[in-house]
Amino acid sequence: MAPLIIDTDPGIDDAFAIALAAASPEVDLLAVTTVFGNVPLAHTTANALRLLELCGRGEVPVAAGADRPLVHPQPYSAFRVHGEDGLSGLAHTLPEPSRDVHELGAVELMADLLRAAAEPVVIAPIGPLTNIALLLATHPELKPRIARLVIMGGGLDGGNTTSAAEFNIWSDPEAARRVLVEEDVPATLVPVDLTRRCAVDAAWLDRLDTGGAVARALNVLTPSYRASYQRSLGWDGLVLHDAVALAEAIRPGILHTQGYPLDVECSLGPSRGATVVDRRLSRDPEAPTVDVAVDTELDALRTFILERLLAF
Ligand code: BDR
Ligand code: CA
Repeated sequence: MAPLIIDTDPGIDDAFAIALAAASPEVDLLAVTTVFGNVPLAHTTANALRLLELCGRGEVPVAAGADRPLVHPQPYSAFRVHGEDGLSGLAHTLPEPSRDVHELGAVELMADLLRAAAEPVVIAPIGPLTNIALLLATHPELKPRIARLVIMGGGLDGGNTTSAAEFNIWSDPEAARRVLVEEDVPATLVPVDLTRRCAVDAAWLDRLDTGGAVARALNVLTPSYRASYQRSLGWDGLVLHDAVALAEAIRPGILHTQGYPLDVECSLGPSRGATVVDRRLSRDPEAPTVDVAVDTELDALRTFILERLLAF
């Protein structure tokens, strides 16, 4: 079992991602660390505790991390998508946690786990990259203990929060730049261009109701997110951004990647938070690259996620 830490801001698609990891025998879920993002930190942390309880994984520690970006405050923008509590206002439908948040903060718990693990650990950041930037800045000696970062974030052709920026990168561009550009940690970036193509429709969601308690509870949490797609696109379904990234962390290679030079726009202008990906044929072949997920077998991926959730 490959050791895995999820750094998250649940968040409805984060909930699916956590459940997918909890259902997957390939990975040993060492911890879930939380960050501000879709909603404030108090909610994302409470949601992580409840989701692990739902999944029967109350032994997995939850540690709380950053409650704001590194440099520039960012107004919360995802209430309309994920609801006031991050889970469509329905977090109370999940089981009460039987334990409290870990005494260590997210960065210190990650550091302890990286030091103690028998092999390098995969970290799946599926929220703003603030905790990961702080980890790399405060414990650079632990970089070799990170097998890979599988990051949900960014966009090759524009964003979903502004025309230029995807939500996780937009939420803390300075942190994202530190992680993706300034540190030499192996990273796979799973951008919105691909996660959107992996969208699941109403029939896929209906299948969740034929499953066990976890699958059915996840479907209960979806109304706010589903309504936002109805409003914006007139389409009934969900984009499970974070679960797509977790599929890659669980089954490496399920997403097809391409190495591209990449930078993050940190100006305060309209392009703030953009991931600037150099796809020119004439780009410098020696420039450092980030692996960007560009394709997958769409139906096989949707089936993989569904079958794991139904088998719980
Ligand atoms: C990302 O932003 C959040 O709203 C989702 O949870 C996902 O991590 C998608 O842009
Ligand atoms: Ca998220």
